[in-house]
Amino acid sequence: MKVASRIVAEVLEGLRSLVAPGISTYDLDRFAAAEANKHNAKCAFRGYHKYPNSLCCSPNNQVVHGLATKNQLKLGDIVSLDFGVIYDDFYGDAAITLPVGEISDGAKRLISVTEESLYCAIKMALPGNRLGDVSSAVQGYVESRGYSVVRDFVGHGIGRSLHEDPQIPNYGTAGKGIMLKSGMVLAIEPMINEKSHEVKVLSDNWTVVTCDGGLSAHFEHTVAITDNGPEILTQIC
Ligand code: MF3
Ligand code: CO
Repeated sequence: MKVASRIVAEVLEGLRSLVAPGISTYDLDRFAAAEANKHNAKCAFRGYHKYPNSLCCSPNNQVVHGLATKNQLKLGDIVSLDFGVIYDDFYGDAAITLPVGEISDGAKRLISVTEESLYCAIKMALPGNRLGDVSSAVQGYVESRGYSVVRDFVGHGIGRSLHEDPQIPNYGTAGKGIMLKSGMVLAIEPMINEKSHEVKVLSDNWTVVTCDGGLSAHFEHTVAITDNGPEILTQIC
């Protein structure tokens, strides 16, 4: 999982330097697939429940599971990129939200609050803590800053499958839920909306958008719980 997660992190870093006005999500998807191939890794999402792409690209009001198109990203957009690979039968999964050129202060703040909420959650991923400590860390951080937590999609355990138990909601009650243990690996992934938490799936049966058209941001890391604290596997340090 360390190897798979490192590949995911490297591909996302490559994407970070590519995202600019004029590039399409189709180009980003092709880049991610080619990079995974260079590392002898298999894209985890392509074909998963018939998902057609390698990279989930979700601009602006799209929350998750956006489909690649040849439309160019434009100055002022934001885009969430979610990527996963399988290497040696193990999975890694991570997501980032990037600005496309200069963006509004509101969009910048949504991105930074969402990213910071992920780190608040990761700090709680300790042996002896409860799953609700992780979930409520996201919710508390985000809601106190005026944003809302998507409820219809959640994080997940990860290992030899992309989605393993437990489900990890980004809302909940501290002290509740299963006890976390050393050796568990979690994909923690806050999906945060600028306005209402309500989302819907478009008629393509994949693209999740905000109901009110507000912006949405998404960050994800694959995190191992260890006796020495949380180890972020999808981070290049
Ligand atoms: N990170 C997302 C998840 O954990 C990506 C899945 S996209 C899918 O669910 F296409 F594979 F479903
Ligand atoms: Co995930």
